Amino acid sequence: MGAAVSVKTLVPYWKKHQVNYVLDYGAGNLRNACFLQEQGFQVVVAETPEHLKKIRDKISRYHFPEVVSTMVSCFHMDVDLVLANFVLNIIEKEKERQEFVSNVYHNLKPGGFFLAEVKEKGKGRPGKGFSEEELDTLVMAWAFQKTMVLRRRGLLGVLYCKIFH
Ligand SMILES: C[S@@+](CC[C@H](N)C(=O)[O-])C[C@H]1O[C@@H](n2cnc3c(N)ncnc32)[C@H](O)[C@@H]1O
Repeated sequence: MGAAVSVKTLVPYWKKHQVNYVLDYGAGNLRNACFLQEQGFQVVVAETPEHLKKIRDKISRYHFPEVVSTMVSCFHMDVDLVLANFVLNIIEKEKERQEFVSNVYHNLKPGGFFLAEVKEKGKGRPGKGFSEEELDTLVMAWAFQKTMVLRRRGLLGVLYCKIFH
């Protein structure tokens, strides 16, 4: 499976804004991590302990630094960009979603970007998705501002930027 369209679309923007270090948080089968590495970005992968076992060989092949999801809260990686493609909409508990966003915030440098992509809740699309307002409420509980919104075929990608203090 190729990289997410949102990720491919935003590469020129990220390059223009000197993005280099990326945390792919909930990296899945590494489609975005591999693509971004090929584009010259330095990518750290974070995944659940169970899923890390499944992607162990691929992680070694691509030499990705890895962080187990249960330890992300212990780090302050100061990355330029955190990706969370289709992760927030599979975390069922609100408290865990809040912890996830807190971890994103604390691992981003000021001025860094956070791409949150989810299935969009909408007419004819009930279920686990988010509306843009729900995603904003979750993410902007931290000091983020909204930079860009991408929509495609029932998918919602929002690029946030961590506000400088
Ligand atoms: C639908 S997949 C998306 C994978 C990838 N981001 C992509 O777009 O292809 C969601 C991934 O999030 C991971 N995940 C779920 N909860 C997580 C958490 N709390 N921390 C890190 N990863 C998590 C799952 O193991 C799964 O691989």
